[in-house]
Amino acid sequence: MVQTLTVLGLESSCDDTAAAIVRQTEGAQAEILSSIVHGQTELHSAFGGVVPEIAARAHAEKLDVCVVQALEKADMALSDIDAIAVTAGPGLIGGVISGVMCAKGLSAATGLPLIGVNHLAGHALTPRLTDGIAFPYLMLLVSGGHCQYLIAHSSEDFTRLGGTIDDAPGEAFDKTARLLGLLQPGGPSVEAEAKLGDPKRFRFPRPLLDRPGCDLSFSGLKTALMRTRDQIVAEKGGLTRQDRADLCAGFQQAVVDTLAEKTRRAIALYLQQDPDDPVVAVAGGVAANSAIRTVLETVCAEFGAHFTAPPLALCTDNAAMIAYAGLERFRGGASDGLDLMARPRWPLDQSSPAMLGSGKKGAKA
Ligand code: KG4
Ligand code: ZN
Repeated sequence: MVQTLTVLGLESSCDDTAAAIVRQTEGAQAEILSSIVHGQTELHSAFGGVVPEIAARAHAEKLDVCVVQALEKADMALSDIDAIAVTAGPGLIGGVISGVMCAKGLSAATGLPLIGVNHLAGHALTPRLTDGIAFPYLMLLVSGGHCQYLIAHSSEDFTRLGGTIDDAPGEAFDKTARLLGLLQPGGPSVEAEAKLGDPKRFRFPRPLLDRPGCDLSFSGLKTALMRTRDQIVAEKGGLTRQDRADLCAGFQQAVVDTLAEKTRRAIALYLQQDPDDPVVAVAGGVAANSAIRTVLETVCAEFGAHFTAPPLALCTDNAAMIAYAGLERFRGGASDGLDLMARPRWPLDQSSPAMLGSGKKGAKA
């Protein structure tokens, strides 16, 4: 019998509190019935980064509001829902616990099944939610908290080809903006400045290109930028508008070149799987960068692979992706008990070595 499932999803692993309702009839495209996101940017703006305790408290205060709004927007009651999906990690543990406790409360009160979702699986399955992409596909996650290449074989089976060993690219953009006195979040500010600058004036390192594999590193790039900035300031007493634009352009070009080369390597590994219709998908806030998007499109074209990027609201943290990933798990027969654990680290690919480094989201999964 063809089954229609409606899942409520909750997300609270970093600085966005979110709830969403997603419905899918077996064999058909999924539908987002509602997707509510309450960001916390203002709460953290004075501190130059996400403060875990403030984030956890704000999640605990906002989660029930988000659930009520998601139900109202979808014109539904809890009795219309088939299961409750929640991000159970990886992320800032206080926030993850807030979400898991809220979901457990709803599950205990209603008797609805509870499904713990890996946040990274949420991002990685988004191209299926938006475009119904078939497995296997190659996924590049690039945000303020994540950076990894994954082959998605099924909703429960991912191979990590490589990832950052220190900062995520979005973090590098944010730190660069801070070093140059630009507004946060740094990605859009640095991109806007880079458009006015000369990418050839400063040559920053392309980290790890001299080593085989798909691992990346961005912390040295930020340090190189800081040194160059300090040198200009020591020589000229300050930065001109053009200096700043050229620094941004040089930084962005280094990120673009590094991602281009590592993506070539990741696609070559992915193509060894012999996919019928090769697809490369990107997700995460950094996917908004037009220079990065353009180079990824070009690299995919070199290999004859189709390139796809979800709409920006679904690239960044949201609960629709959690509801959808939960729906896929639930359809496959999985569910969790009230002993579901919140996990600060939870690698998608259990067979890959743990990633080092610590970023906006704490330890990398
Ligand atoms: O996915 P996201 O909303 O949150 C997580 O990090 O989980 O990504 C936010 C990150 C920030 O670091 C922001 O600076 C970066 O994405 N970002 C960009 C651009 N827009 C946002 N980075 C580069 N260029 C952009 N246009
Ligand atoms: Zn995320």
